[in-house]
Amino acid sequence: MDPITLFPIGTYQPSPFPAPLWLMELLLVVGFFLHAIPMNIALMGGITSAVFLFKGKNQPDSYEQRAGKQLAAALPIVTTAAITNGIVPLLFLQILYGPLVYTSSILMAVPWLSILFLLVIGYYGLYIFNYGQKKFGDKSPWFLLASSIVFMVIAFFFSNNMTLMLTPQKFLPLYQASPSGMHLNLDEPTLIPRFLHFALGAIAVTGLGIGSFGLYYKNRDAGYSNWLIKTGASLFLAITLLQTIVGPWFLFSLPADVQHQFLDLEHGIIGKTHFASHLLLTSFGLDAIALIAMGIAYVKGSTKAFTVGLISALLLVGGMVEIRHLVRVFSTQTIINPSNHPVEPQSAILGIFLVLFVALIGYLIWLGKQVHKAYQNK
Ligand code: HEM
Repeated sequence: MDPITLFPIGTYQPSPFPAPLWLMELLLVVGFFLHAIPMNIALMGGITSAVFLFKGKNQPDSYEQRAGKQLAAALPIVTTAAITNGIVPLLFLQILYGPLVYTSSILMAVPWLSILFLLVIGYYGLYIFNYGQKKFGDKSPWFLLASSIVFMVIAFFFSNNMTLMLTPQKFLPLYQASPSGMHLNLDEPTLIPRFLHFALGAIAVTGLGIGSFGLYYKNRDAGYSNWLIKTGASLFLAITLLQTIVGPWFLFSLPADVQHQFLDLEHGIIGKTHFASHLLLTSFGLDAIALIAMGIAYVKGSTKAFTVGLISALLLVGGMVEIRHLVRVFSTQTIINPSNHPVEPQSAILGIFLVLFVALIGYLIWLGKQVHKAYQNK
């Protein structure tokens, strides 16, 4: 039976897609990668800087105090980047998976819309820390901690919606149970490992951010640079080792047919979709390189080793972002398939989009330089 009649989901809009599917999928994945990097630091940067500030509380000139304050000062900008970059995948997610994500968003409308208010509260906490230190003194790092907790609630709501949209068989029973828009997806077996995988990954990416500050300070303050690289590398190492438990937990919690696209342990190792299997195995390889390089950076404080670790880790995040997209493709391909929808490329709109995109990149580089100058003169 046609899935559209089987499940209460909408149809695609009657107008054809305005650009080729491959391009929109690419923009969805690249857009999510650009969202994920700053979002990870926004998510866990508050907790990390609060821990630094509490640890160095009685030593105002310690590296902990310095790093805690610098990370906290960067967080409002990083959060802005996370929010702005979130719009790109949101746009393409709605175009390509609208029939699923609109319905799941309606079922969890209250938590979903509350994200906007939570975002304002979390963002405000970061500003209270940065501008209210005189007023709140030793207590001000609590605002950073509170912001991270609020952002974690947002991330949890995102994980609920991103998993609920993959299971349209739940839509009608949930709506029949209550049409109030108060649902979450708590009985979903992939929810907790998926969320934990994200939350831990966010700490590791924050470690990458701290070590990158160390690269910046290399020729400015060697002692501080060494401390930042070692601290960032140790954070990445500890968390990524933990991911060797949580990552497989997430993989094996996926429905068997989705899992078998990546891995087929009964018939060797390569799953049904070779590209997916090779991507997963390449990601394991990148993980190993990143761990070894970060191990060396941690022991020796080497900037070269940290740079190798940083590049492999960023490629690893890119691989994971694509794998996450493939999980959605495999989970929904029997329900809706965007490749069946007609495409009528509108070259004028596409041209304007690309020109504006390049102009935006140029503008962001200019803006980054201005912010950097302003911080240096502070
Ligand atoms: C600091 C606030 C935010 C946090 C902590 C956050 C966190 C997350 C997390 C953890 C996910 C992945 C969930 C999963 O797949 O299980 C996600 C996905 C996503 N986020 Fe954010 N997010 C934030 C703000 C935003 C905003 C403001 C937007 C939109 C303007 C946005 C757009 C998206 C989109 C579209 C996805 C799904 C992308 C895809 O499925 O390819 N996010 N976010």
